Amino acid sequence: STPSVPGGDNVKVEFEDGIAWVKLNRPTKRNAMDLNMSTEMNNVLDSLELDDRCGVVVLTGEGEAFSAGMDLQGFFRATDVMSDVERLRAQRENRNWQWRKLMWYGKPTIAMVNGWCFGGAFTPLICCDLAYADQDAVFGLSEVNWGIIPGGVVPKALSTLVNHREALYYMMTGEKFDGREAERIGIINKAFPKEELVAKTRALARNLLGKNPLVLRATKISYKHILEMSWEGAAEYLSAKGDQTTAADPESGRAQGMKQFLDDKTYKPGLGNYER
Ligand code: ACO
Repeated sequence: STPSVPGGDNVKVEFEDGIAWVKLNRPTKRNAMDLNMSTEMNNVLDSLELDDRCGVVVLTGEGEAFSAGMDLQGFFRATDVMSDVERLRAQRENRNWQWRKLMWYGKPTIAMVNGWCFGGAFTPLICCDLAYADQDAVFGLSEVNWGIIPGGVVPKALSTLVNHREALYYMMTGEKFDGREAERIGIINKAFPKEELVAKTRALARNLLGKNPLVLRATKISYKHILEMSWEGAAEYLSAKGDQTTAADPESGRAQGMKQFLDDKTYKPGLGNYER
């Protein structure tokens, strides 16, 4: 039987040779994020983590937008009339996918910003491991433009990538900026012309699919943990994490890499991956 494809009315998943293209799918609402979308994204991320058809997640948007941020109707107005505990649960539903799951995800994640990206959309964007964008995509920390502070965890996420001046400038002015500027200030890895974006993203995903998945997972997760550690603590943790990764590696990558370089002389680690 054909395995089912996760997702629903608000999130579309397409598999392509190990890549799961996850599309926020409310194009007529510029993929604004409401509560139904959060529930679907939580389910999609949970299910893809254990799905062998997915080696890399690409998060993007259907239509003209990556995402126009939190839905002013379907999140803000909807939660305004809720009880305090219902609102807490709604916020938790957002937090779970927008940063908790993405930040510690068991597979590599790439955000592909194909268009509009505002406000709350910065959280999942920043919490993906890597990010590419259309050079003409329009980004904005537009919260101030409608009288709220950047909330959720947007300023915290921003502070991990962007310097103090840039963060305050864009949060305080609400000024929009394009993909080239997003690259300059470090929110994305690289901006490309629209017609190249999918191919460049696919090539990046394919590069990651060629790596040892356990080592890749330990690499990104350990990096995120050491950000909050002292030098001494980080050195001890990385030493232990390295040993743990080597011990747990079903393909013995470290031994393979050493053998193919030192004994077989069939490859150079500086120039590419060992033969898996
Ligand atoms: N919340 C709710 N509905 C939205 C949102 C949103 N964040 N963004 C777009 N929509 C809806 C519009 O209300 C409109 O609905 P309708 O067709 O039923 O009237 C539909 O999506 C299309 O939007 P338009 O404004 O007509 O599309 P356009 O392409 O002209 O503009 C743009 C796109 C610039 C993204 C504009 O929709 C916009 O400014 N959206 C709000 C962006 C924003 O500031 N988001 C941050 C929210 S703060 C936060 O996330 C915490």
